[in-house]
Amino acid sequence: MSLNGGLKIVLPILATVAIMAPLGWMWQTSRVPGTYSVMNMGYPDYGGGHVSDSSSGGEMQGHVHNHHSLPSRMITDLIVNPARPADVRVDLVTRQEMLTVGGRPMPGFTVNGVSPGPEIRARQGQLIEVQLRNESVSDGVTLHWHGIDVPNAMDGVAGVTQDAVPVGGEFTYRFVADQAGSFWYHSHQVSNPQVVGGLLGSLVVTPRSGIAQQVDVSAVAHTYGGLRTINGKAEDLRVPTQPGQRVRVRVTNTDNGPMKVWAGGSYRLLAVDGTEVHRPTEVSGRAVTLTAGARVELEVKVPGDGDAFRVQLTKTTAVIIGPQGADVAAPPQPNAELDLLAYGSPASLGFDPAQPSRRFDYRIDRRPGFVKGRPGMWWSINGHLYPNVPMYVVREGDVVLMHIENHSGEVHPMHLHGHHVVVLARNGVAATGSPWWVDSLNVLTNETYDVALVANNPGVWMDHCHNLKHAAQGMVAHLLYEGFDTPYRIAGPADNQPE
Ligand code: C2O
Ligand code: CU
Repeated sequence: MSLNGGLKIVLPILATVAIMAPLGWMWQTSRVPGTYSVMNMGYPDYGGGHVSDSSSGGEMQGHVHNHHSLPSRMITDLIVNPARPADVRVDLVTRQEMLTVGGRPMPGFTVNGVSPGPEIRARQGQLIEVQLRNESVSDGVTLHWHGIDVPNAMDGVAGVTQDAVPVGGEFTYRFVADQAGSFWYHSHQVSNPQVVGGLLGSLVVTPRSGIAQQVDVSAVAHTYGGLRTINGKAEDLRVPTQPGQRVRVRVTNTDNGPMKVWAGGSYRLLAVDGTEVHRPTEVSGRAVTLTAGARVELEVKVPGDGDAFRVQLTKTTAVIIGPQGADVAAPPQPNAELDLLAYGSPASLGFDPAQPSRRFDYRIDRRPGFVKGRPGMWWSINGHLYPNVPMYVVREGDVVLMHIENHSGEVHPMHLHGHHVVVLARNGVAATGSPWWVDSLNVLTNETYDVALVANNPGVWMDHCHNLKHAAQGMVAHLLYEGFDTPYRIAGPADNQPE
């Protein structure tokens, strides 16, 4: 073989090695161990605050809790007083079965035989106890209480705060409904197919003082196999009322993408994500955006002349409020948006965000690489791909600022468990309206948000995208309180798959 001929063979091999070796390394580091603790995920980010004196770690080795001094407290201790009796007791049974939506049969999931499952209603301050039994969901199930800041052991995240409940298994959730508002529950085991397939329901906590409206109605918006529904029916929701009555309409978006809500007349936006808006004014000709997982409460007035009032949940479905048989033409979708950055009047936040203990970045981009051993264009958080993402470490009592930035080309509904965050600014423009507290935030591409929270609910909490497809693709990070640990494992014998 001539020298030239040899090079012809060797050079391509060298080139291949030069390309493949780093790729192989990237692939190797992207692989997720067969089973692991969320505590070992990624690298600790202390946000410029107190650093726990453990190894500062590397990717996938960054044990945040301390092995050398005090033992960590297990999050399983974070429960409500077991001696306190329940005020509201509910049995929920989950099944994997065929649904009929709009006359069409499709595979899905039910809670007590229906999807959405039964609405749980409680009064503020009551202790809710839910006994979950999984009858036939083969992958196992959990229940997460979206928007309710429950004690960590009740958060319902498989592999983080509990094991998935297998077929025939049971789990009891107990928490106090401290906050009045509209919330929902859904599985957090293999959540993308299970939530999309209907393993969800509404949870309403009415204020101690009651509500000022005569009629209180819930509208859970969900898309089953491409069919838009309200409360599981692919049709308008009719609410019989008397002329002149005031109605509270609770809208929950349980889909993976944002939805728009508007009305055929004026309305007031009473609450967002279970928090009252301070001094909400009358709005007309404006649509409200509900990000995936978000809720709004609208107050509308039934016309005095016997006509109906329409609240559109997208163009396809509506809540029609009025006397029996009354209807009204669908109002066109307004171009203008109700901007919550400047809606209502300012009020005290109860803490000072100008004196933060930590500042974090949650920067979302997209880049090529490997996630879970698969090549692709993946979502990155602060430049890192899952599972090498930041673990945001806080201490109880910290005032935490989070700067969220999205340059990924798509919208992301960002959801932090166990806390509500208040929006301080969007794209650098400071909020001027009512304190805008959310648990689910619509972050458009090229938008930035500055939000703040008080670390007042210890444990380990997911902070993820509620487009559950994106979450399954690795758009998941966690907020960890220093000194806490979990005995649960992702994967493992219970096959926990939170996304
Ligand atoms: Cu609606 Cu992580 O959840
Ligand atoms: Cu996303």
